[in-house]
Amino acid sequence: MNRIAPATPAADTDNRITLSLTLNGAPREGVVAPAARLSAALRDAFDCEEIKVGCDAGDCGACTVLLDGAPICACLMPAARAEGRVVETVKALAPSSGVPGKLQRAFQRHGAAQCGICTPGMLMAAEGLLRRVPHPTRPEVEEALSGVLCRCTGYSKIVSAVMDCGGADVTPPDGAVGARIERLDGLPKVLGTDLFGADGWPEGTLAVRLVRSPHHHAGFAFGDIAAWASAHPDLRAVLTAADIPGRNCHGVIPPFADQPVFAEDVARFKGEPVAAIIGPRDVVERLDLCHFPVTWEEQPAVLDIPSARAEGAPLLHEGRPGNLLTEGFVRRGAPEDALQQAAAVVEATFTTGFIEHAYIEPEAGYARRVGDRIEVWACTQAPHMDLEDLALIMDLPREAIRILPSSVGGGFGAKLDLSLQPYLALAAWVTGAPCGMVYSRRESMMTTTKRHPSQITARIGADAEGRLLGMTVAASFNTGAYASWGPTVANRVPVHASGPYFLPAYEARAAAIHSHCAPAGAFRGFGVPQGSIAQEALFDELADALGHDRLEFRIRNALETGQPTVTGQVFSQGVGIRACLEALRPAWAERRAAAAAFNAAQSAEGGALRRGVGVAGMWYGCGNTSLPNPSTIRVGIKADGTLVLHQGAMDIGQGANTVITQICAEALGLPVSAFTLVGADTDLTPDAGKTSASRQTFVSGAASLRAGAALRAQLLRRLNAGDDAQLQLAGSVISAGSAAFDLATLAGQENAFGYVLMAEETFDPPTSPLDENGQGEPYAAYGWGAHLAEIDVDIELGTIRVRDLVCAHDVGRAINPTLLEGQIEGGSAQGIGLALMEEFIPGRTENLHDYLIPTVGDVPRVDSILIEDPDAHGPFGAKGIGEQVLIPTAPAILNALRDATGAVVRDMPATPDKVLRALQSARR
Ligand code: FES
Ligand code: FES
Repeated sequence: MNRIAPATPAADTDNRITLSLTLNGAPREGVVAPAARLSAALRDAFDCEEIKVGCDAGDCGACTVLLDGAPICACLMPAARAEGRVVETVKALAPSSGVPGKLQRAFQRHGAAQCGICTPGMLMAAEGLLRRVPHPTRPEVEEALSGVLCRCTGYSKIVSAVMDCGGADVTPPDGAVGARIERLDGLPKVLGTDLFGADGWPEGTLAVRLVRSPHHHAGFAFGDIAAWASAHPDLRAVLTAADIPGRNCHGVIPPFADQPVFAEDVARFKGEPVAAIIGPRDVVERLDLCHFPVTWEEQPAVLDIPSARAEGAPLLHEGRPGNLLTEGFVRRGAPEDALQQAAAVVEATFTTGFIEHAYIEPEAGYARRVGDRIEVWACTQAPHMDLEDLALIMDLPREAIRILPSSVGGGFGAKLDLSLQPYLALAAWVTGAPCGMVYSRRESMMTTTKRHPSQITARIGADAEGRLLGMTVAASFNTGAYASWGPTVANRVPVHASGPYFLPAYEARAAAIHSHCAPAGAFRGFGVPQGSIAQEALFDELADALGHDRLEFRIRNALETGQPTVTGQVFSQGVGIRACLEALRPAWAERRAAAAAFNAAQSAEGGALRRGVGVAGMWYGCGNTSLPNPSTIRVGIKADGTLVLHQGAMDIGQGANTVITQICAEALGLPVSAFTLVGADTDLTPDAGKTSASRQTFVSGAASLRAGAALRAQLLRRLNAGDDAQLQLAGSVISAGSAAFDLATLAGQENAFGYVLMAEETFDPPTSPLDENGQGEPYAAYGWGAHLAEIDVDIELGTIRVRDLVCAHDVGRAINPTLLEGQIEGGSAQGIGLALMEEFIPGRTENLHDYLIPTVGDVPRVDSILIEDPDAHGPFGAKGIGEQVLIPTAPAILNALRDATGAVVRDMPATPDKVLRALQSARR
């Protein structure tokens, strides 16, 4: 390590100016660099942390403010140009501190903020419109919001909120399961006071900047770092692998952990960190890292599956021959024999590319040393997993690490893996000062995990009556340079690649293959969406080959209770796929007839549009595959009657804070409004596991139910009341009918947590290991769903417009229908991106103008149909929803393309060039 003595602050050499403006109605002055981005200047010199920064390039709109009443991207304007002008941020919308204005209330009422990182910008874009057009039409709202990206919501509830600005507030119901209560953590999101990873840093926080590999694969050697550092006396430290006190390795699946914090001798993907530089922010930002003493020797790189598997391909890791990380396998019956008996067999190979999560909040956070402990404030989906890995990296006992998650501006799986946390912890430990970092958009896209590219060959056969007989699947996934969630994808895909159907004979293999790309990891579905594209496309071709209606073909084969899944698991309850598919019947019949009429008219007129309707089903196992998956929830009550829920399940926008409280409230028998919430903090909340795999409502919700019920039992004993007693809490007095008990009488008997009564309960869903043929019970429950897509295809341009989605999901029990609809709308929007526009190309699409995600104009109306087939293990019957909502959208759209035109695209995304080629092939 090259530790450098603290220096006096750098001389101010950049001719800073005093900027005078009117900010949210008040005259303000601040000292800024004249060429600084207005967004940065307002955040740094005017304490406007409500302005969010997602790209610094005018692509995301998160930084939208009003300048003289008109919306602008503050990241595109030099600060000096705001001199003397009127700037308004989201805080201008609130009549007084902490009190939401009309538009903010509408957002809260409609559930328009999920993670909330886009919300301040979205609100200001809407406000700009509403001042011009008080009662806008839907197209006017969509036009006004078209420059602001939201990756969570699918925009529908945002548009509805804007159109309902000034609408009447209804008194929200108080928390019973099934009630559409507003997000409990929603108010700070609409007020702009929520703190994300880049917010709330202590005064004097040092900046951390990483030196990264410019090559996909390169050997490297450092020169004289000490000499370089001494030439930059304002810096505080330069760190490399040699400075790691513990293990230079981390990974989300411990037996496969292989990712170095700092690469040593060889970099295996472009952007891999090799060193960290720490110092005052203005000094660190101005450094020209071209002169950092490291020499690179570029080496041949393999970036895709065929080249990684080719004879003589460079090996990424010793002990993983052929660049094979691991394989998953499921076999049931004799599929080859079954396919011989089939009346029709279809077969094809499908490919998909890297998909970037594109959350609007790039990775951000800070760490600080507190005595012999280290505290890390950062965006994460898995605080306790972060703690485990940091303890190993820092060689500190677990008790010496505290993870304080910030609010998370979108995650979708990528914030399960460590990103900047080790660098923050090391830097703060070494310097003793708080140290922070915000990834640039490019750093975020270049180096964090992606959805696995896939190459999937499937073969499926059915008899003349349309009953499935057998299926084989061979899948390869590009897992990038390090393991991340590759083993999970390899194991989960064979279990799910059949789709939610009864298949008497089946064999599926999936392999995770290393390449010199950023690690591929978790992204809503863990490989299941890629498998679903192949299986659902071939189902349409099989149904057509046999002359069956495509929806009825699926209904005929839908898994039933009592039938074994492809892993031999038999459910006696909770199998809702048939109900989901049947719920689409009316829309299927109506839209198909309308599409036929439309196409006939277009053909007659020589029009370029063709309308198509497609359908696809899905299933998804909730939680880890055949592995322990516990969550623990604590609820306690103090002598003064304060009721506290310690809820450590990360809410990354999906609504865990609200849903898990609703469940506890129902189980305890007291209203949601009685609760004080303690959110995720490894010092304060027990381990509720990671937010992934659609497990939080199902697993942490079940723990919450048990904790609520256990505390209720204690209260009932104190009251000597029966199970059906109606509890009431008034001050410190708990009562049921005429029985009452004053908790204040227990003062002095508090436990270590400060509670006079407390319950802490754990739920671990029952699963069993898979045997050598992949037979067993990998999940305690599955979520089920089916989507219908109606699209228009321009056969001259190759463009596709999704007109309508109808989405039926068996959620077991709808704990909060508004939040469920939000998940469906947001997940299906990501499915549109997967189908039509998104593909991350390493080294090329590392920003949000080359990598396109759906805007408000790309997302149609979504009709959500919630089906409640309760699960025996789920809280009040609830199942997971987070991954389920994305899986069937892309295959439904691709099937609609084939329905409209006969064109078949098997290489995702179906961009206009590919659609035109497919149209040509279809015409031959
Ligand atoms: S941060 Fe300004 S547009 Fe993205
Ligand atoms: S709520 Fe819009 S990006 Fe998360």
